Amino acid sequence: MSSRLSGFYRLGLAERRRRLLVAADLPEGAFAAVDPGALSLDVADGMIENVVGTYALPFAIAANFHIDGTDVLVPMAIEEPSVVAAASNAARMARPAGFTTVHSAPIMVGQIQVTNVVDVDAGAAALRDAAGSLVEAARAVVPRLIERGGGPVGLEVRVLARDGADGGVIVAHLLVDCRDAMGANTVNTLCEALADRVAALAGGRAGLRILSNLTDGRTVTVRCRIAEEPAVRAVIAAASRFAELDPYRAATHNKGIMNGVDAVLVATGQDWRAVEAGAHAYAARTGLYRPLAVWRDDGEALVGELVIPLAVGTVGGSVHAHPGSRLALALCGAKTAERLAAIAATAGLATNLAALRALATEGIQRGHMALHARKQTPDSHRPPAAQLPPKEST
Ligand code: MEV
Repeated sequence: MSSRLSGFYRLGLAERRRRLLVAADLPEGAFAAVDPGALSLDVADGMIENVVGTYALPFAIAANFHIDGTDVLVPMAIEEPSVVAAASNAARMARPAGFTTVHSAPIMVGQIQVTNVVDVDAGAAALRDAAGSLVEAARAVVPRLIERGGGPVGLEVRVLARDGADGGVIVAHLLVDCRDAMGANTVNTLCEALADRVAALAGGRAGLRILSNLTDGRTVTVRCRIAEEPAVRAVIAAASRFAELDPYRAATHNKGIMNGVDAVLVATGQDWRAVEAGAHAYAARTGLYRPLAVWRDDGEALVGELVIPLAVGTVGGSVHAHPGSRLALALCGAKTAERLAAIAATAGLATNLAALRALATEGIQRGHMALHARKQTPDSHRPPAAQLPPKEST
């Protein structure tokens, strides 16, 4: 399967679908899953409360991605023009060496807050002494996750306050390997199951019991090397350093990353708010809000690296409730949460590269003018505007 869909943007919508059916080896009619009305009112009514309808977004494929040695069709659901073209263009630039990814174990943190602890040092020590048995008790709650190679793997204790409005405050972090699930439900269940015992051991009152969205134990690192002219390498590296020096710029830099990440997460039915919250908390973890991706000129090529916490799942949750997300997962071939996270993160590094290249060279406005033209002629097959000067649009 090749993701190099040359001239894809020039095709009519039906022909694009036909090409993708062949490329991804999907059955005839698979794209009915993203036809208007594909999410039935009945299914929608079962997903959330007070349903009065469904709400559609454009669903597209970003081309040219080569990730960890394999071509990937990257599904994106997004309302913003130019993101898909930008991602495809950047992926084409990165294609010779491809993107490579490394991921951590899929460890989520569940927090059990204990307030009004009389002696926080003694409470913390008691919890640390009991950590092994608490983890064992938690493991007994999730036998199916243990069978899949995951489950609770550790318990850490932090003292948050010695006195104050809530008295002494301790938080116990239950570390849970969630395998291919995003894990929110499992982690919350485990925190609730352990809370009374944790509070009793700490000598305080059980407070909140909920996962943390700062999933710094569940990260993906994406790298790429791009052959660029020295002058372009220099301006992109300078744009990266701007974001490294200034939180105002870092926020926008990271927004350009989340353009790609969120588009994949929305398409594949993920809790993108959780990932957004985690990404920005991670960006600020040193006390200064920083860019999630940095770019350097190594004297021969432009080198990019993105590190992002990405809690996604290919099992559980509402991933399979939506026909569109089932199709998106089939198109990109993501059978595991690790692979899905790698694809979403790579899309983010690609949209970041595209944005920086446009901003640091000709400016973003040229793209915006072209987008304006596209909005006025929605049926035209004009090449989509990209966030970089395109040599060839996809
Ligand atoms: C727009 O959606 C994203 C950009 O602002 C990102 C950036 O400035 O790096 C172009």
